[in-house]
Amino acid sequence: MLKGKKIALYVTGGIAVYKVVDLMRSLIKAGAEVQVAMTESATQFVSPLTFQVLSKRNVYRNIFAEDDPAKVNHIHFADWPDLAIVAPLSANTLAKLANGIADNFVSSALLATTCPIFTIPAMNEHMYENPATQTNIETLRGRELYVMNPDEGFLAEGYSGKGRFPTQERILDELRLFIREKGRALPLKGKSVIVTAGGTKERIDPVRFISNDSSGKMGHAVAEAAWEKGAEVTLITASPLAVSGNITVIRVESADEMHEAVSSRFDSSDALIMAAAVSDYSPETTHTRKMKKRDKLTLTLKKNPDILKEMGKRKQTRQCLVGFAAETDKIEEYAKKKLEEKNADLIVANDVGKKDRGFNVDKNEVIFFSHHEEPQTINLKAKKDIAEDIVDWISNFIN
Ligand SMILES: Cc1cc2nc3c(=O)[nH]c(=O)nc-3n(C[C@H](O)[C@H](O)[C@H](O)COP(=O)(O)O)c2cc1C
Repeated sequence: MLKGKKIALYVTGGIAVYKVVDLMRSLIKAGAEVQVAMTESATQFVSPLTFQVLSKRNVYRNIFAEDDPAKVNHIHFADWPDLAIVAPLSANTLAKLANGIADNFVSSALLATTCPIFTIPAMNEHMYENPATQTNIETLRGRELYVMNPDEGFLAEGYSGKGRFPTQERILDELRLFIREKGRALPLKGKSVIVTAGGTKERIDPVRFISNDSSGKMGHAVAEAAWEKGAEVTLITASPLAVSGNITVIRVESADEMHEAVSSRFDSSDALIMAAAVSDYSPETTHTRKMKKRDKLTLTLKKNPDILKEMGKRKQTRQCLVGFAAETDKIEEYAKKKLEEKNADLIVANDVGKKDRGFNVDKNEVIFFSHHEEPQTINLKAKKDIAEDIVDWISNFIN
C-alpha cells in the first residue's frame, strides 16, 4: 500500500521529532519515497542532516533558498507527493494551517498542497486541551485533513496527560486506513474475507509437537492484500508473525482449533482463503505431562478434519473458496484433483521442493488452477505481489 507512494514529510518543532526519524525509516522500508521539509524550530530538536542521510534527499527548510531557477521550491514540493504527512504537528503550525498562514517553507508548501494531508499533533496536555487548539483541530477536520488523536501517557514535562506522539503501530494502522479510504476503487469493500495461515502444531505432550515448515508469510500477505482492497478481514493464524491492527486476528495452534475458528465464521463470509498448512494428522493421544525419554516411541496418528473439503461442501454460490497445494511432484495432477475434490474455486499450487521458493522464504512461484480458465503461472516474485494477484482473482470472481 505504501510501495511507490510519494510522501512529503513535514516536520515541525516538538520534542517528538526524534520519533519521526523512525517513522520515516518505516515508510521508506515499506517502499515509499520520502522527501522531508522542516521548520526552523524542528531543526532545534534533530539535525536536518539526520533526515537528509536517512532519506538520501535534500531537506527543505528555507523558503528563499531558491537554488534552481526552473522551479519555485515550495510549490514544487507541494505538487510532488501523493500524500503529505505532518509529524509532529506543533500547536503553532496547526494554528497556521487552520488560518491559512504561510510564513515559512512548511506552512507555505502545506497551503499549496492539494493531495491528502495526514497530521499527527503532539504537544503538552494544556496546549492540546486549549480551546484555541481544539477549535483549530475541528477546522482542519472540517476541511478533510486527517488529524490523529494523540496518545495519553507520560509526557516530556514529567507528568501524565494527553498529547503524546502516538505509537508507530497506531500511526501506521491509521495511515493505511486513511490511504485506503482516499485511494483507488476498493473492489472488496463490504466483503468479509477469512484467511488462514501458518503451520498448525499438533501436541504430543506439553513440550513436543508435530508441525511443518510453513511460516505463515503467504497467508499474512494475502490477508493484508485483501484488507487493502477494502475487505473486512479475519486472519486465523497458527503463525507468530505480527499483523496490522486493521485486521481481526484469531491465533490458533492446532488443526482442531483452526477447524473450529473457520467453521463458526465461514457461513457469513464472502471468501475463504485456506493458505494455512494444516497438519493432516495429529497424535491420537496428547499427554498432559512431559513424557520421559525412552528407547523407542511409537505414535499413533489420527486424521485431522479436512477443513477445505468441509467448507467446499457447505459453500454457497456467492462464496469464493481458495485452497493451496504445496507439492514436490505431479503438481498439475494433484492440484486439479484437489480443485474437484474440495469443490474449490481456485487452487494456488506451488512446488515446495525448491529452496528459493515456497515454505519459509519471502518469494514464491505459483500456478492458478480454476474451473473455467487455463492454468496460469505466476513467475517467481515476492509473496506480497503474489498475494495481490490472488486477491485480484478473488475480486473478479466475487464481482
Ligand atoms: C523543549 C521544547 C519542547 C517543545 N515541545 C513542543 C511540542 O511537543 N509540541 C508543540 O506544539 N510545541 C512544542 N514546543 C514549542 C514549539 O517548538 C514552538 O511553539 C515553536 O514556535 C514551533 O514552531 P514551528 O511550528 O514552526 O515548528 C517546544 C519547545 C521547546 C523549547
